[in-house]
Amino acid sequence: MVQENPIIKQLATIREKARQGGGEARIEVQHKKGKLTARERLEVILDPGSFEEYGLFVQHRSTNFGLEKHKAPGDGVVTGSGTINGRLVFIYSQDFTVMGGSLSETNAGKICKIMDMAVQNGAPVIGINDSGGARIQEGVASLGGYAEVFQRNVMASGVVPQISVIMGPCAGGAVYSPAMTDFIFMVKDSSYMFVTGPDVVKTVTNEVVTAEELGGAATHTKKSSVADGAFDNDVEALAEIRRLVDFLPLSNRDRAPTRPFFDDPARLESSLDTLIPDNPNQPYDMKELVQKVADEGDFFEIQKDYAANILTGFIRLEGQTVGLVANQPLVLAGCLDIDSSRKAARFVRFCDAFEIPILTLVDVPGFLPGVAQELGGVIKHGAKLLFAYGEATVPKVTVITRKAYGGAYDVMSSKHLRGDINYAWPTAQIAVMGAKGASEILHRADLHDPAKIAAHTKDYEDRFANPFIAAERGFIDDVIMPHSTRRRVARAFASLRGKEQINPWKKHDNIPL
Ligand code: HXC
Repeated sequence: MVQENPIIKQLATIREKARQGGGEARIEVQHKKGKLTARERLEVILDPGSFEEYGLFVQHRSTNFGLEKHKAPGDGVVTGSGTINGRLVFIYSQDFTVMGGSLSETNAGKICKIMDMAVQNGAPVIGINDSGGARIQEGVASLGGYAEVFQRNVMASGVVPQISVIMGPCAGGAVYSPAMTDFIFMVKDSSYMFVTGPDVVKTVTNEVVTAEELGGAATHTKKSSVADGAFDNDVEALAEIRRLVDFLPLSNRDRAPTRPFFDDPARLESSLDTLIPDNPNQPYDMKELVQKVADEGDFFEIQKDYAANILTGFIRLEGQTVGLVANQPLVLAGCLDIDSSRKAARFVRFCDAFEIPILTLVDVPGFLPGVAQELGGVIKHGAKLLFAYGEATVPKVTVITRKAYGGAYDVMSSKHLRGDINYAWPTAQIAVMGAKGASEILHRADLHDPAKIAAHTKDYEDRFANPFIAAERGFIDDVIMPHSTRRRVARAFASLRGKEQINPWKKHDNIPL
C-alpha cells in the first residue's frame, strides 16, 4: 500500500540514485584504483547501521557550462553523523564518482552544516577527502565554499577533534582544510596532496616530478610532516582511525573515555632494569619502555616516520588516555632538533587543548649542533616545544631514564615548566652537558693531556652522572626503579586526576610559529 504512494516511490528512487553516486561505470573505475566509494568508506569507519545522512536531496543550482545537465542527489559529498564504538562523530565523505568529488557551493554548505553541528554538540569531525578540488565550472562560488569550510576549521580547532583522511586527490587550496585539522592520514599509492601539481611545477620552476614524489603518502609522512600517518589501503586506514577516535575525547567539554583494561597497573617489568646499556653512548629502543608501561602494550603512534628521534602518540594507563612524548636514543641519539621540536610541540598542544595528560620519557643529550640547525631556526623551533610544555596545564609526569642535558633538560617537561611529578631512574644523568665536553671546557689548559682530561671527566661524572643532585633540589620527586615504572607512573596520574591549573587571561598566546 505504502509502496504504491507516488511520493514514497519518488523517495525510494532518489535514495537509490544517491546510493549509485556517479553510476556503475565510475564506481568500477574507483574500485579499479583500489579505492572504496564514499558510502563504502562510511560503512567501514562507522558502527554498522549508525549512519544518519543529512542533505541527500541537496543539488547544486549552477547553470554554468551546462552544469544543469549534471546533477546528482547529494552533489558529490555524503554527510551526516554516526558512531564509532558507540560514540558520536560527524562525518563527510567526498564522492569522486560525482564530478570528481569537486567542491561546489552547495556541497560546501553540507560540509559546513555538519561542522557546525559537531561544534554545537561537542563531537569530532572526520573528513574523508577524495576530490578534484574546487568545482571549476562554479568559479568563485566554489572558492567561497572552501573558505566557509576553512573558517569553520579554525573555529572548531581546540573545540572538537578534527581528523582528515586523504583517500584520493587533494590539490590546490583544498589542502588547506585538512592542513588546519588535528590529524591527517593518507593511503599509500592512492592519495596525494599538493598546492600545485606536477604540471604547474614544471611550468614555473622547470622541475620534473611525479605526483607521488610531490605529494604522495611517503613524501608527507617522511619528509614534509604534513601527514601524521599512512596506511596500505582504505580499509586499514579507516580501521586505524576508529582506533584513534577511541583514544580521544569527543570535545574540549568532555574527558577522553576510560576503556576497560585487563592489565595490572602494578605490573612489574624486571627486564627494564637492564634496558639502559652500560656504555652511556650506546643506544636502546625507547619504544620498549613505552610498550612495557602502556596498558596491554597498546601505542597509537603519531608521525611514526618523521623525526624519529622523538616519539609521540597515545597510550592508556588504567584505561585512561595519556599522550606520550619520548626521546628515542636509537635515532640521532634522541637529540632535539628543528623537526623533533615541531613534531612534539604540536602534539603537546593537541593534548593540552583536549585535557589529555602527558607522560614524557627523557633521554636527551641536548639540542643538535650544526650550521644547518642554526640557519634553519632551531632557536625558534626549539622554543615551540618549550612554549608548548610551559603553557600546558594538563597533568604532566616525567621520567628521566638516562641523559637530561642542557636546555633540552629544561624543555622536556622539567619541574621548572610545571612538571607535576618528575621521576628519574638511578641511571639518570642531569647536567649542563656530557662529562667529557664539560671537562674540556672547564679545563682547557689540560687539553693536551688526555690523562688529566680523563681525571676531570671522572670527577664531573662522579658529581653529576646521577639523579641525586637534581633530587636534592627537588627538581626530581623520586628516584624510581625501572621495573616499577608502570606502577609509579600510573599512581602519579591517579593522584593528578583532580588537577586544576589556570593560566592568566589573555586573548591568545603568541607561540613562536
Ligand atoms: C569539476 C571535475 C574537477 C573539478 C575533476 N572533475 N575535477 N569537475 N571540477 N575540479 C571531473 C572531471 O571532469 C571528470 O568528469 C571526473 O571529475 C573525473 O575526473 P578525471 O580527470 O577523469 O579523473 P582522474 O583521471 O582520476 O584525474 C583526477 C584529477 C583531475 C587529477 C583530480 O580530474 C584533475 O586534475 N582535476 C582538476 C584539478 C584542479 O585543478 N582543481 C582545481 C584546483 S584549485 P567526467 O565527466 O569527464 O568523468 C582549487 C582551489 C581551491 O581547488 C581554493 C580554495 C581556496
